Amino acid sequence: MDFRIALIEGDGIGPEIMAAAVAVMEKIAKKYDHTFTFDMVEAGGVSIDKYGVPLTDEALKICKESNSVVLASVGGPKWDTQPGHLRPERGLLAIRKELGLFANIRPAKLRPEFIDACPLKKEIAQKGIDMVIVRELTGGIYYGARGRDVGKNGVEAYDTERYSEREIEQIARVAFNLAMTRNKKVASIDKANVLESSRLWRETVHNVAKNEYPEIELVDVLVDNAAMQLIKNPAQFDVIVTNNIFGDILSDEASQLVGSIGLMPSASLGKTKCGMYEPIHGSAPDIAGKDIANPLATILSVAMMFELSLDLKKEAKIIEEAVDKVLKQGFRTRDILDNGTKPVGCKEMTRLVLENI
Ligand code: IPM
Ligand code: MG
Repeated sequence: MDFRIALIEGDGIGPEIMAAAVAVMEKIAKKYDHTFTFDMVEAGGVSIDKYGVPLTDEALKICKESNSVVLASVGGPKWDTQPGHLRPERGLLAIRKELGLFANIRPAKLRPEFIDACPLKKEIAQKGIDMVIVRELTGGIYYGARGRDVGKNGVEAYDTERYSEREIEQIARVAFNLAMTRNKKVASIDKANVLESSRLWRETVHNVAKNEYPEIELVDVLVDNAAMQLIKNPAQFDVIVTNNIFGDILSDEASQLVGSIGLMPSASLGKTKCGMYEPIHGSAPDIAGKDIANPLATILSVAMMFELSLDLKKEAKIIEEAVDKVLKQGFRTRDILDNGTKPVGCKEMTRLVLENI
């Protein structure tokens, strides 16, 4: 099969981990007779430096015309003083919005060989962690009205959390459909004791469940309690559905529970087959160019793309198994290094994965 894939290396460790993703796709292409045509797209800090904006219309157009987008990472201290609308992250948010990628899927699974890397007490970790966070990605406070004005106590700034029923219904359905393929359990996370937007969230999620998914066991968890429960008893969670900002925060928390943020892939999906696939970690400018970044979250993101956007399920499984094997053999990048494991760099880790494909 022929596929057109837009690649966004972005900033910091981006180019290094993207090289890993490309190598994996090329190996799969060769082995299973597919053709990937790659379009390099500039977004984030590199785009600001070159064109003065974090995402050009041309870059966006290439993403829209592709079968899917793989994004490594954007941002860095160099652009921290940019005004809000010209920050590297704005490029990422624009792609999510313009491609209609309203559903962000972030699986967090504790592999048995990472039980020691989990910061929780052994008896808690041993109960297992296997959850998927379904994060609403194109609404809420990330996209609501924001600004500054001057009040009697000086400058004031505001951001707005706003959700419509339609937005909540569509993300709820993604979570329920996913739950139907798993344990039929969904935890919806909100702050309905304080926020009106959360009260609408809760009502709407329950309406969808009642009318369309009567088999689903749905529980509501307040976000502060959810942050605590993730540490206290993560085994209770299967599918989590939540808004944009809570999903952002809780998925970083979950990433630590499963060993490292360097292991967590994500898929951003909309109404079409075209998705964007990215590791959930950032651009790690402090370790950029040193060949020590962990390429596995990006490689696993490619596997998610194969499964969810390209219908290459067998190939997706092969990538996942190759990663499993390398981890079982004890190879680790620095972020996940533990007693008795073998340290490798980004390139060597990639080579080991390729060897197992
Ligand atoms: C993420 C990231 C982004 C977000 C940043 C880079 C804008 O933290 O994908 O979780 O907040 O969505
Ligand atoms: Mg985040």
